[in-house]
Amino acid sequence: MIEEAAKLLARSRFAIAFTGAGISAESGVPTFRGFNGLWKKHRPEELATPEAFKRDPYLVWEFYKWRIDLIRKAKPNKAHRALTELEEMGILKAVITQNVDDLHREAGTRNPIELHGNIFRVRCTSCDYREDLKETGRLDEFLAQKDLPRCPRCGSLLRPDVVWFGEPLPRKAIEEAFRLAERADLVLVIGTSGVVYPAAYIPQIVKETGGKVIEINPDESGITPIADVFLRCSAGEAMEKLIERVRRLI
Ligand code: OAD
Ligand code: ZN
Repeated sequence: MIEEAAKLLARSRFAIAFTGAGISAESGVPTFRGFNGLWKKHRPEELATPEAFKRDPYLVWEFYKWRIDLIRKAKPNKAHRALTELEEMGILKAVITQNVDDLHREAGTRNPIELHGNIFRVRCTSCDYREDLKETGRLDEFLAQKDLPRCPRCGSLLRPDVVWFGEPLPRKAIEEAFRLAERADLVLVIGTSGVVYPAAYIPQIVKETGGKVIEINPDESGITPIADVFLRCSAGEAMEKLIERVRRLI
């Protein structure tokens, strides 16, 4: 199976990767669904909504500050690094991610397409103020602040610059992702349950336009039925083996 996947990758002309929370699991970032995803008995899907934020912004901000603090300590793992190497080899043309954890960029991927935003950014709920807390160096200060965060421009509530359930995706990012999917002759799908749309259309588009689908996941997912090769394995282990074989093939 790994051998077959390595051959497909080495032969491909325009491969892309599509990643979800599972690729960061081995970096210590909990996934959303399943047992490990619970936070204080709340399911993340119930906190990552505009309704939850309206009802209880304290609770939602507490959840996000907990996640920001956890993610800032996380390091990219073998799977993130293998994708960077595939990109450097010229095989991988783009990384499209549903993750907000910035670990692809930390691993050296040049321009990851972030479909669901980035947890280190905040934005105003009223005006167009945005801030990247990593860039401005205000992360510590922000996390330490007890009150709800307010916009320095207009005083309205700030919110995480991530996509919540029921909200549209950033238009440029999804358009670019669909364009890449139409062009791709192979998609490497890593660590996603493949049930959240429109992101989950990406592997389907690749498949429908005649491309191959390689999936890496320790469990079956919504993508598994269309996978040409399904590596039932953790992301780190599978990518380590895969990259080793690809190196030998090219
Ligand atoms: P999920 O939590 O839904 O799925 C994580 C997937 O990773 C599951 O299929 C697991 O089997 C798999 N997995 C777990 N450990 C793994 C490992 N070590 N290696 C590889 N795979 C592993 O996360 P996503 O599919 O990313 O959206 O969820 C999609 C979206 O739903 C998220 O982007 C987020 C969420 O709510 C928004 O925030 C809008
Ligand atoms: Zn504002």
